[in-house]
Amino acid sequence: MSRIELINIDKFYGDNHVLKDINLVIEDGDFMTLLGPSGCGKTTTLRVVSGLEKPQNGRMLMDGREVINCDDAYYEEPSKRGLNLVFQSYALWPHMTVYKNVAFGLKIKKMPPQDIEDKVMNALKLMRIDELSHRYPNELSGGQQQRVAIARAIASDPKLLLLDEPLSNLDAKLRIDMRSELKRLHNEMGTTIIYVTHDQVEALTMSTKIALFHEGVLTQVAPPMELYMNPIDLQAADFIGNPRINFIQATGKIAGGRLHVVSDLGSYVYESEHLTDEPMPEGDFSCVIGLRPEQVCIETEPFEGAIEASIYASQPAGSETLVTLSVGRQEFLAKQIGLAEYNINQKVYLRIDPNKMNVYNEKSTRLIKLAV
Ligand SMILES: Nc1ncnc2c1ncn2[C@@H]1O[C@H](COP(=O)(O)OP(=O)(O)OP(=O)(O)O)[C@@H](O)[C@H]1O
Ligand SMILES: [Mg+2]
Repeated sequence: MSRIELINIDKFYGDNHVLKDINLVIEDGDFMTLLGPSGCGKTTTLRVVSGLEKPQNGRMLMDGREVINCDDAYYEEPSKRGLNLVFQSYALWPHMTVYKNVAFGLKIKKMPPQDIEDKVMNALKLMRIDELSHRYPNELSGGQQQRVAIARAIASDPKLLLLDEPLSNLDAKLRIDMRSELKRLHNEMGTTIIYVTHDQVEALTMSTKIALFHEGVLTQVAPPMELYMNPIDLQAADFIGNPRINFIQATGKIAGGRLHVVSDLGSYVYESEHLTDEPMPEGDFSCVIGLRPEQVCIETEPFEGAIEASIYASQPAGSETLVTLSVGRQEFLAKQIGLAEYNINQKVYLRIDPNKMNVYNEKSTRLIKLAV
């Protein structure tokens, strides 16, 4: 078991309030990714969990047992928490070979030599660096060193694995390969993983849950596809997805319990079951439609219910084509699978499912209508 609960955690560095009232539960077996732009508090959260940093307010429970309680000034030393926890760091021992670096922690635990060898070689194979076992760290590339660090972290079968941007030094291809290796590893070992990244693709592809941070605040915790489908505010919507979500200006109004939305795309009415619990303003109010580029389908012939648009620019890239469209005063991006060729200023006809749109209250920035 390794369930972590952070309750009302605040962390300050001097006057700098870097974690603001964080409440987060990491269930046993989760692959929880802490995601957000640089400086939002991801590493600090991981350091609080690992015991490298003390928060100023709040509590932390591990498997239901209190290990931090700032109100009572109670702080259990990390070494006494009895949780096999590994904090991956890049710092390898320079005077030890790759093999010895990975074996070091197991030797300290006085594991039988044959078991050590099995575990080390298994971890090195998994990270595809078994052929480098006799090299010293200064004979490795940055990406290879990073893989040794992950191998060292997983060799001891930790119950809780804390990984801070472990793939950041790898080239694009290796990064994709390592994503699947880590995902398989999580599946096979059942280890609880807390993983820090600012790369949303990494977060979306590997995690069972994502905790999205913004300036020290935890904005949303959800499974990846839920986060992608329904980001809880405009900032979250803007951060998640590549190419970025389109924002389209609109006017909203609640009438008869239903949401009426008018924009250059047309007029839509949404039933109450598709609305969130956010408070709704009286009368007309400004809202923003969130529309994913892949939800826009371009046809070259007119059809009933089509939205008329013209091609502003088209970027064919082989497996997909990104098309900038203009409709009324709005410009937005559509993503078409495969190769599609359009002329600049060509008239086209769009098919967009209004149910797949998100609607945000512009003033509060909060999601008011769910994509379904
Ligand atoms: N030891 C420290 N002393 C003072 N300020 C710190 C310290 N560590 C972090 N900070 C500040 O706390 C804030 C959060 O830092 P943190 O390292 O948690 O960000 P992060 O989300 O991991 O960012 P990145 O993606 O760049 O690694 C930042 O403003 C940072 O400057
Ligand atoms: Mg960091």
